[in-house]
Amino acid sequence: MESLWQQTAPAIPDDAAPPPTGSDVVIAGAGLTGLSLAWLLARDGVRVTVLEARSVGAVTTGNTTGKLSLLQGTVFTGVRAHAGDDAVRAYAQANLAGQTWVREEVDGLLGAMSVKDAVTYATDEEGVAALDREESALRVGGIDVEVLRSGQTKRLQLPFPVSAALLLPDQFQLQPMLVLAELARRVRERGGRIVTGCRVTGADAQDHGVRVRIGERTLDCSTLVLATGSPILDRGLFFAKLVPSRSFVGAYDLPPDVARPRGMFLSADEPTRSLRVDRLPSGTDVLVVGGGAHTPGRTQPTSEILAELDAWTMAHWPGARRRTWWAAQDYRSVTRLPYVGQLPRGGGRILVATGYAKWGMTNAPAAALELHGILQNSPVPWAAALDRHRPGLADVGEAVQVNASVGGHLVVDWAKVGMSSSNGDSPAERTGRVVRRGMSPVAESTVSGVTRRVSGVCTHLGGILTWNDAECTWDCPLHGSRFSPAGDVLEGPAVARLAPADE
Ligand SMILES: Cc1cc2nc3c(=O)[nH]c(=O)nc-3n(C[C@H](O)[C@H](O)[C@H](O)COP(=O)(O)OP(=O)(O)OC[C@H]3O[C@@H](n4cnc5c(N)ncnc54)[C@H](O)[C@@H]3O)c2cc1C
Ligand code: FES
Repeated sequence: MESLWQQTAPAIPDDAAPPPTGSDVVIAGAGLTGLSLAWLLARDGVRVTVLEARSVGAVTTGNTTGKLSLLQGTVFTGVRAHAGDDAVRAYAQANLAGQTWVREEVDGLLGAMSVKDAVTYATDEEGVAALDREESALRVGGIDVEVLRSGQTKRLQLPFPVSAALLLPDQFQLQPMLVLAELARRVRERGGRIVTGCRVTGADAQDHGVRVRIGERTLDCSTLVLATGSPILDRGLFFAKLVPSRSFVGAYDLPPDVARPRGMFLSADEPTRSLRVDRLPSGTDVLVVGGGAHTPGRTQPTSEILAELDAWTMAHWPGARRRTWWAAQDYRSVTRLPYVGQLPRGGGRILVATGYAKWGMTNAPAAALELHGILQNSPVPWAAALDRHRPGLADVGEAVQVNASVGGHLVVDWAKVGMSSSNGDSPAERTGRVVRRGMSPVAESTVSGVTRRVSGVCTHLGGILTWNDAECTWDCPLHGSRFSPAGDVLEGPAVARLAPADE
């Protein structure tokens, strides 16, 4: 599925092939992290090449809900609980810097950004308590919000009772593909290259640089930056310190007489709902509703999550009609703080940025500013405070918990495969199953009348794949890698496609 942003933005031009000889910096990934950093470096005259496995904005940035906001649900509470008040202050500083940077870069760019109030709302007692904690954590970070108690929440124009809300005016919503298009244009104007359809499959730190592997080919550079969402190199075992979370997003046409919510909303209680209204280039207002957060590969059938989102929307906005939907995932670190910096055992020449916990519109440019500071020897002011709390040995406890559930899936899922052997039939349309052929798990699916059989074992670290019936993909329950029915890598830490398993 293509998001509303991908459907309505013009195509982004790119370059044909990577240069044969060394760039100063190679960036893997053309999402908001990769392109923000590429532009910061290209502007300084650094020779930069962006290698993108799919297309610009194909993964999370192109499928976000695009709120460029310092009010972030209950994120500040989580940061405070896991890393303390100093980290909250540094996190606020980083996010403000990220927000300001994007705002200044796209200021005046038609359709890319609009000013909105940001609201986190609660509909029950637990949610109200969560708002109180968040308001206190935000105050530590220097962010003053207006607190609306029941009786004051009518002005939000939400079609359901709201017990309380936090409101932060003058935040922004983005058309993320227009932002990426502008950054890409500037990078290329300054001589940077953006090569799409080019998957980095490995890298070796060497005495004077890094040899980047792209399948059978290599490319030398002085520094490699992994801006790939989940880091694709397993050094530092990052995948074990990140929790993937996938959500669905629906875009709905509303009848003309139905009131539109006026800001950008996120619920503090369950079910989590994200709301904003977007004006299309045609002038039509579309209600964008996000929700149904789940761990990829662990919830089936996924079509029920989408159905539930539709039912909730139509119950509250009668007559709403879904025009399109999509889904995306992001990664939360065990400390609740993004990880930005050197990859362990990368010789100081491989850098990484990840773990934005669905708040990358501010965190990705903040990470780019921080990486730029590292590369240009001019550290950003918030780096030292955040570095102290980045996932390390102190987080082994929670990393072990995350991995206990991962390990549990590994064992149970392999055992399940052992019980069902292939009977040679084709699965029904839009269905998939993993069966045993001899000792090998085979993932067989039928989409648009075509039955395909590929290995049912994730090429990252051997998870057994599960069928995502809404998106027609194979998803790994361990660390969130996803594959097409034909076995192509879509996202996550895997770099190799699934082997064909045709009879
Ligand atoms: C449903 C949802 C809603 C969200 N809403 C918001 C919001 O309202 N506000 C907000 O602040 N944040 C939001 N976020 C979070 C935000 O969208 C992300 O944090 C941000 O887009 C991440 O940007 P990125 O550049 O790091 O990753 P991506 O945009 O995923 O870019 C990574 C790129 O790397 C490429 N890649 C991967 N592997 C390789 C490889 N081996 N070689 C080369 N390229 C590779 C991928 O193809 C991809 O294009 C949301 C996230 C989700 C899931
Ligand atoms: S994503 Fe790690 S094993 Fe599949």
